[in-house]
Amino acid sequence: MPSALDEIESTKSTALTELNDASNAESLEAWRIRYLGTKGKIKDLMKLLGAAAPADKPKLGQQVNAVSNELKSKFEEKLAASQASANATRDAIDVTEPGKPPAIGRPHLVMRVVDELVELFGRLGFAVAQGPELEDDWHNFVALNIPETHPARDPNDNFYLVGSKEKRSDTLLRTQTSTVQIRVMETQKPPIRVVIPGRVYRPDTIDATHLPMFHQLEALVVDRGVTMVDLKSTVLQFVHGYFGSDTKIRFRPSFFPFTEPSAEVDVYFPAMDRWVELGGCGMVHPNMLKNCGIDPNEYSGWAFGFGIERIAMRKYAISDIRLFIENDVRFLSQF
Ligand code: DAH
Repeated sequence: MPSALDEIESTKSTALTELNDASNAESLEAWRIRYLGTKGKIKDLMKLLGAAAPADKPKLGQQVNAVSNELKSKFEEKLAASQASANATRDAIDVTEPGKPPAIGRPHLVMRVVDELVELFGRLGFAVAQGPELEDDWHNFVALNIPETHPARDPNDNFYLVGSKEKRSDTLLRTQTSTVQIRVMETQKPPIRVVIPGRVYRPDTIDATHLPMFHQLEALVVDRGVTMVDLKSTVLQFVHGYFGSDTKIRFRPSFFPFTEPSAEVDVYFPAMDRWVELGGCGMVHPNMLKNCGIDPNEYSGWAFGFGIERIAMRKYAISDIRLFIENDVRFLSQF
């Protein structure tokens, strides 16, 4: 059986080795409990004293106390050193570490398509024009040759601002960017060659191809000798340039108060195996030119108004218009 003295010595030496090996706050705490805790090895050494010969007790007692004090102070030292080094690593800035890229947003797909369209039409010689989303009766209807009795003025088809009890307000959210044709012709004289991207509002029922707020790209060309051939060839150039030269489109005869003759343009969606209407077009009605102080005997013009979401859907093979307003970043971040 080893002597009490040997026991004290060997406890001390293993304690010091283990303390040396303890490298973090957790292992240091475990060491403290193992040696200095209420049920620790130092307490065990105290118990050893009880069994020693009375003559040896004072000496052994001193030994145990000395070992206990030494371990305590070594422990304090080591603990302080380990805390200091933990702080040092926390505060240090490693300038060589690659940075975390910040999450940066991006323009909404509709805005991206607007930019692409403005760029494309810019190359065809079109300037950009804009007008207000809140419009009056004159620009949304009267000047566009839409008479007072026309069904397009029905409150169910328009977002009018609240008027008085007696009289409906004449102010409304514009239903079409054609309003800006008027604003352009009121302030500029031919030759005119503009595209007008903008938001429009209609109380439509939401489905896969309709939203109550969407965007249109309007185009207006007014000059001497402008014909339907110019209109058709520009639309074809745009469609083939933007969607690809094998894109199928069709012109259908139609009616708009502000054009004569009028047509609707459909584009074929291979992904959905169906034709989707892009919008309307036609030769600017002589009354409209007159309304804006332009002589229809001297000038003629063509115009179109296409849905930008529809254009984006065809370009990026999107089969549901609602995706544009759901703000799901998994969708938006693909573009
Ligand atoms: N403004 C029409 C609509 O929103 C579309 C349209 C038709 C625009 C013919 C035009 C046009 O410029 O000439 O339904």
